[in-house]
Amino acid sequence: MIGKNIIHLNEVDSTNNYARGILKDKVEEGSVVLAYSQNQGRGHLQNTWESEPGMNLTFSIILYPEFLDPARQFALSQMASLGIHDFIIGKTDSASIKWPNDIYIGNKKIGGILIENSILGSRFSSSVVGIGLNINQSEFSEWIPNPVSLKLVKGVDFNLEECLLMLCSTISEWYEKLKNGHYAELNYRYTSNLYRRGLWADYKSEGQMFKGKITGIDETGRLLIEKETGKISPFNFKEVEYVPYG
Ligand code: BTN
Repeated sequence: MIGKNIIHLNEVDSTNNYARGILKDKVEEGSVVLAYSQNQGRGHLQNTWESEPGMNLTFSIILYPEFLDPARQFALSQMASLGIHDFIIGKTDSASIKWPNDIYIGNKKIGGILIENSILGSRFSSSVVGIGLNINQSEFSEWIPNPVSLKLVKGVDFNLEECLLMLCSTISEWYEKLKNGHYAELNYRYTSNLYRRGLWADYKSEGQMFKGKITGIDETGRLLIEKETGKISPFNFKEVEYVPYG
């Protein structure tokens, strides 16, 4: 059902802003807002999301996960990450999820997700799942740390419309699982595909570097990292930074 209704925009500030603006019109669940070009694409932590017009996918999905307990909201990140992960795996044979919801090929980022929820009282009323996925772009600004696209990996151009439809289908599959309460499967698949899981690497927290090994996530979605002492500590988003490989 995701993608049955697609709103095509030529240029917009951000598809997430546009999607949030039409929530009041009770637009149907699974509607997708797709932009050829965003002039104020947003990423995490007040970052901007840069994407060359017409080269990539920049879109937002409108969901009403009224069934979901807000305490389990990390499951939305897992569902969207797994849907994109499965799409990428269908095109290349390697992809991983960098906690909390970046999509990686090798040590490079191919896509990101910006989820904006609205919770009324103790229930979800809506969720806008914004997705930026690099498809045909082959040159990126210098300030983007480690970008990659499907074209850079495979050497060929991809049809954006076809990619969008496939993504809508892989994301729908995981959204159905979420609706049916298959949290254990979401957790298992998410954890199995985590970038750097089980590998010793460098991290930074409160200005201090340390060696650690990702073991998984806890029930609220915090990242679990084992330190050399054997102690496993949980980290919230912003509390830990991945130090890139040398
Ligand atoms: C990140 O990795 O920082 C998240 C990036 C999310 C970008 C997408 S592009 C479509 C949607 N509209 C936005 O303004 N942001 C998201």
